[in-house]
Amino acid sequence: MATVELKLPHHRYEIRIGPGLLEKVGDLVQQVAPHHGAALISDQNVHRHYGPAVLGSLKQYGYRNLRTVQFPPGEEQKNLESVHHLYDELLNARLERRSPVVALGGGVIGDMAGFAAASYLRGVPFVQCPTSLLAMVDASVGGKVGVNLPQGKNLVGAFYQPSLVVADTRTLSTLPQRELRCGLAECIKHAMIRDSDLFDWIEAHVDQINGLEEATLLELVSCNVAIKVSVVTEDEKESGVRAHLNFGHSFAHAIEATTRYGVGIHHGEAVSLGMVAATHFAVEAGRCDPMVLKRLRKLLVRVGLPTTTAALAPVDQLMNTMQLDKKVADGQIRLILPDRLGQVSIVSDSRESDVAAAWNAIRS
Ligand code: NAD
Ligand code: GLY
Repeated sequence: MATVELKLPHHRYEIRIGPGLLEKVGDLVQQVAPHHGAALISDQNVHRHYGPAVLGSLKQYGYRNLRTVQFPPGEEQKNLESVHHLYDELLNARLERRSPVVALGGGVIGDMAGFAAASYLRGVPFVQCPTSLLAMVDASVGGKVGVNLPQGKNLVGAFYQPSLVVADTRTLSTLPQRELRCGLAECIKHAMIRDSDLFDWIEAHVDQINGLEEATLLELVSCNVAIKVSVVTEDEKESGVRAHLNFGHSFAHAIEATTRYGVGIHHGEAVSLGMVAATHFAVEAGRCDPMVLKRLRKLLVRVGLPTTTAALAPVDQLMNTMQLDKKVADGQIRLILPDRLGQVSIVSDSRESDVAAAWNAIRS
């Protein structure tokens, strides 16, 4: 087991990591949000595997008024209509200001349930129980919650920190291989922006990760959570270094928006492509050693992530979509570019033709 603490001036919470933690989730939730009412939000895939055990534990530890809401799986569900549906369910169950909302699932459920928790009755306690690798290492930590609009990804949301994160690494045993790879994309992102030792470690442990070795998963998740926590602690509201976590994401969000949110390409796959495009851009601009691009591509391919795709929209459409991104400042696309392995910089004066060339570098 491992516990990482996230301490902010106004709030602190623990991220508990380890196999089998969901068995005692009711106890853990009561410690941070004692009440008799609670909502458990999940998607149908995840609920089937873990919903009954989590409900059992919540009931055992005193949550008598329990409302369960299940969504169909998929990024398309992450919208305002789903949030509205959640408000109805919470109100119908007469859940109050002290009743926690517990999100059990991947980043889609965590982001959407978190946004409902942030806004229902002006904010109720929120607990994240991430069940995908991506949600464990990234989405569940740091308080970004929100939903997509037809115009773009995560365009409506809030910074709303959870009261607790419970990452039961054993749930990764039922996660589809493709989703495990998507989570690894965010781990490789963390290594690229902050920790070249982590990059070496992932290179050396691909087989153990794919074999879901318990000790390796614990180390992988703990190390990545620690990176995310250190970035968020430094810059909660993304006025500085937190933007480094967006490495690859300006490209990724445009890919997702132009492929109707994950139809065909999942978030982690889009991040993989985005990291290659951004690193290609950095190499062409003479900002970064070509060896970094070579190692990045090689690791992504070994893990089974895409480095090129035939599913890209035309460049002008991708460029227009990039302009709608939250990361645009004063009309300029802000790119996060590697200087070397483990270090990135924010660049705002990129020429459109160079960005277009980066898009073409990932088109097959
Ligand atoms: P997801 O929530 O869609 O989960 C992926 C798939 O795996 C789904 O089909 C889900 O049902 C299934 N699944 C999840 N856990 C499972 C398990 N243990 N066993 C079986 N099936 C399981 O997607 P995701 O990749 O977890 O998250 C992507 C979302 O996260 C995107 O919307 C992205 O924008 C968001 N995100 C948010 C942040 C943040 O800081 N808030 C950071 C990164 C990503
Ligand atoms: N995933 C980006 C962030 O949390 O800032």
